[in-house]
Amino acid sequence: MLAEILTWCLTPASLDARRTGHLTAAVSLWSRSVRCRRDWSAHEAHCHAIVTAAVEGCERRRTCLVLGSGLVRDVPLALLAERFETVMLVDVVHLWPARLKARRHANVALVALDVTGATDLLLDRATGLADPLARFAADPAIDLVISANCLSQLALQPVDRLERMSSARRRRHVGLGRRIVEGHLAALARFSGRVCLLTDSHGLDVDAEGRVVETRDLLEGVALPAADADWDWCLAPLGEWADDHAIVHRAHGFVDFHAAQARGRGGRSREGGAVACGTPSVEKRIDPSAP
Ligand SMILES: C[S@@+](CC[C@H](N)C(=O)[O-])C[C@H]1O[C@@H](n2cnc3c(N)ncnc32)[C@H](O)[C@@H]1O
Repeated sequence: MLAEILTWCLTPASLDARRTGHLTAAVSLWSRSVRCRRDWSAHEAHCHAIVTAAVEGCERRRTCLVLGSGLVRDVPLALLAERFETVMLVDVVHLWPARLKARRHANVALVALDVTGATDLLLDRATGLADPLARFAADPAIDLVISANCLSQLALQPVDRLERMSSARRRRHVGLGRRIVEGHLAALARFSGRVCLLTDSHGLDVDAEGRVVETRDLLEGVALPAADADWDWCLAPLGEWADDHAIVHRAHGFVDFHAAQARGRGGRSREGGAVACGTPSVEKRIDPSAP
């Protein structure tokens, strides 16, 4: 707890990131990632494999944009820094572990940005969502965009903050969470370079016998097209979040999200069935040579 308070105080972060709760969420993610690092390692390996395949598929390698770069655990930063002229790590807040990783590479830059464009709306400075990724989408030198497991996180702080506002304001912004998720996917679609999407879609509560006792949609009802690989991410083993169940997230990797969208949308959900926390199941494996 003391480490979390110190991290909150010592992290260079904007007043906005502190007021919207993004810094608090980032610190708690860091703390959980330290406790659960063994449980998360298989998930991170799957993510690295998807990103590596995406890098191999790029015809040109000028700029790589990583959205939701967080602690830079899901993406192989050394590989990106070696293969691309410039790597931009974009997150609403960059904690010290990410800052130190970035400092090892002269061509890696940190960009502090709320990619949803919801901050001004939440702090009463605007009435709608901004489009903060527009300036990046207009840059033809961005050859690879990686959305790194942020999609399911983007609506959390805005929806939480909205729920604590007056009923008039809540009514004005009905559907905000869904608009944020759809907005991120629409923003990705506007990039001309390759887009690699890493995301979870459902959270499963799994009891000690491996039975799924509850399933939650993490994407506000937005369906994704079929992914190149699907796996189970043991987010919280038994005892981490609750004593009677573990939390497993269904995770998906898209080597080329433009191609996946062109193939078509197909709702994906896994309801019921037994999931073993700690032994992620990969239902599809990527073929790095696939176009
Ligand atoms: C599950 S973490 C991703 C982990 C990260 N890819 C890694 O490798 O460590 C989700 C990330 O999304 C970021 N995030 C949440 N809301 C955001 C927003 N509105 N704009 C930018 N980043 C956001 C969080 O700060 C967090 O770092």
